[in-house]
Amino acid sequence: MMSHIKRNLAFTLLSALLFTQSTSLVFAHADHCGIKETTLGDTMKHIKSELRAYNKGFKADDKAEMQEHINELIMLSGKAKVLLPVVIENINGEHSEASSELTAQQKQQYGQYQQQITEMTNTFKKIQASSDSDEISSLLETVNQQKKQGHKSFRQNCKS
Ligand code: HEM
Repeated sequence: MMSHIKRNLAFTLLSALLFTQSTSLVFAHADHCGIKETTLGDTMKHIKSELRAYNKGFKADDKAEMQEHINELIMLSGKAKVLLPVVIENINGEHSEASSELTAQQKQQYGQYQQQITEMTNTFKKIQASSDSDEISSLLETVNQQKKQGHKSFRQNCKS
């Protein structure tokens, strides 16, 4: 009798464990819009947090903080520029970061990707050079638009 209860209990606990594990896997997947984790994804997350830190410094009119985070943003967008988005890899189902292994169509698409990243870098550089807060606000809005545009063209299954 006792061993029967124990077995049932063990079974219930095991099911609960498996259920929790499988749901957390589903959530992890949804968090990333169905895209596998990549160095570019990590770089993008880093851009997001640096941008938030920059905005905080901007609101507090803390010039040192602003310089620190805008420098980081320029460095990160340079890093993003040499990485390959998943949507480009997916054309052939290959995973390669080497542009020499791309098809002609992929090369063209990658060129457009790099162009858009460069535009974002240029906006960051203008922000870095500016000390006019109205101008900085409007440049930050430009970055937002560039992000939307970049994601629309190159980020799979994601909205913003
Ligand atoms: C302020 C500017 C930007 C921010 C804050 C930002 C933020 C993000 C975030 C949070 C992700 C999801 C990362 C993940 O969960 O794995 C992402 C992904 C992505 N973003 Fe951005 N992004 C910005 C600009 C851009 C621009 C300008 C482009 C393209 C020209 C771009 C292309 C991509 C791509 C392709 C992915 C998918 C990652 C992959 O393919 O491996 N992003 N971005």
